[in-house]
Amino acid sequence: MLRPARVGPADTVYDLGSGDGRLVIAAVRDFGARAAIGVEIDPALVARSREYARRAGVADRVTFLQQDFFRADVAPASVVTLYLTREMNIRLAPKLQAELRPGTREVSFDLGGAGALRAAASGRGTCGPRRRCRPRRARAWRRGPSCRRTRRRW
Ligand SMILES: C[S@@+](CC[C@H](N)C(=O)[O-])C[C@H]1O[C@@H](n2cnc3c(N)ncnc32)[C@H](O)[C@@H]1O
Repeated sequence: MLRPARVGPADTVYDLGSGDGRLVIAAVRDFGARAAIGVEIDPALVARSREYARRAGVADRVTFLQQDFFRADVAPASVVTLYLTREMNIRLAPKLQAELRPGTREVSFDLGGAGALRAAASGRGTCGPRRRCRPRRARAWRRGPSCRRTRRRW
């Protein structure tokens, strides 16, 4: 997830639905991100994430918000990571399109997420309701100057 997005020291990473915080912690510990923010609705997972961050020695560079990601301010992100269902990705697409700055990289793992987001942005579907979407590799892309999703991978 973090490798295809080429996370580095200049980045502020947002993981929407951050679970136990492993990706947020890895972003700062293993990829040197300036800061990483996890948004997670489950308070038990948020508490666990904070404890794991403390143990990993990165508590000062990570933030875990116990919040519905539909209500989160994602504008500061330079990288957004999503490991969610295809349906959730589709629901999130308009928010991301409206709020992320041009140049923000998005990476979505599995569950048809990347295609689903692109499809939502373009108003087309990638998978019919009865078609099973095969899991895909993590995919990343960057928002273009008009804040439209670019097809080009980098
Ligand atoms: C598959 S886990 C991904 C965990 C983490 N991103 C990772 O890569 O290890 C999805 C997480 O999204 C959280 N989630 C689902 N809906 C949410 C919402 N509306 N707001 C915040 N978190 C949500 C779930 O509680 C779950 O922990």
